Amino acid sequence: MEIAGRTALLTGATGGLGRAIAKGLAGSGAALVLSGRREEDLLKLAESLPGGDHRVVVADLAEDGDAERLAAAAAGVDILVANAGLPGAGWLAEFSAAEVKRALRVNLEAPMLLARALFPEMLERGAGHLVFVSSLSGKSASPRTSIYNATKFGLRGFALGLRTDLHARGIGVSIVSPGFVREAGMFVDAGGKTPPGLGTTTPAAVAAAVEKAIVADKVEIAVAPILDRVAAHAGLVSPRASVLAQSGSAGQRAAAAVTDGHSKDKR
Ligand SMILES: NC(=O)c1ccc[n+]([C@@H]2O[C@H](COP(=O)([O-])OP(=O)(O)OC[C@H]3O[C@@H](n4cnc5c(N)ncnc54)[C@H](OP(=O)(O)O)[C@@H]3O)[C@@H](O)[C@H]2O)c1
Repeated sequence: MEIAGRTALLTGATGGLGRAIAKGLAGSGAALVLSGRREEDLLKLAESLPGGDHRVVVADLAEDGDAERLAAAAAGVDILVANAGLPGAGWLAEFSAAEVKRALRVNLEAPMLLARALFPEMLERGAGHLVFVSSLSGKSASPRTSIYNATKFGLRGFALGLRTDLHARGIGVSIVSPGFVREAGMFVDAGGKTPPGLGTTTPAAVAAAVEKAIVADKVEIAVAPILDRVAAHAGLVSPRASVLAQSGSAGQRAAAAVTDGHSKDKR
């Protein structure tokens, strides 16, 4: 689907990747509904973007009813980019029940509810595209990330399943799975040191992948250096092969350090 002249709802627009995705989509001629919790940042972002038809809708996707309220405010959009996410980092035992629920809601349930609310109108029009921003952590596990892994594996499964239902009916469904992202975003906020042998990508590359997914109707795009993609895929095919999950390895220690860098306020 071409992007010029379309409308798109983008969640997580205030984040490191969200800002780059917003810039990319607006630059390609889409009118955006930008969402997040921080109104002032959303308004500044809207003003900074090319094109004049952007709107802002504040929503806390961890709260009851906010995903539905956001979908109603964005009714009629042609594109959903479900990008908002929490790092969900840490030992399972350190999480309260409320924190587990918040991670599941923001990372997994909200994208499902937004898609559920928005795709029927896309079906009526016979065109639309849903993009879910997952992670290489949706393919391969790493230390102290079990909750994040669960949400991102789940999001990938949801998107692949939904694609089988909607593809023949003219609605695209794509997964964009970044590896470690430098310059901005939750990996940088956590200290930004990659495990040995692994590399990084950029917010601009993730934004380009989102656009490519929409224009070329890609099922899945992994955005990371080749070695990182191969390592994640190996972990998907054979969990014992995951370099990050091997007990006591340098990779595991470094991956645990990344996880430990995430602020506990982001739970
Ligand atoms: N950065 C990476 O290395 C990386 C790698 C792989 C995948 N990803 C994925 O990429 C996506 C974006 O990540 P990022 O790096 O840009 O993270 P980020 O900079 O921490 O931004 C997270 C975004 O999610 C929004 N958000 C968080 N909690 C929310 C809530 N309760 N309700 C509504 N919005 C909420 C935040 O908005 P407010 O603060 O305004 O609410 C913010 O816009 C996430 O899904 C993440 O899992 C990131």
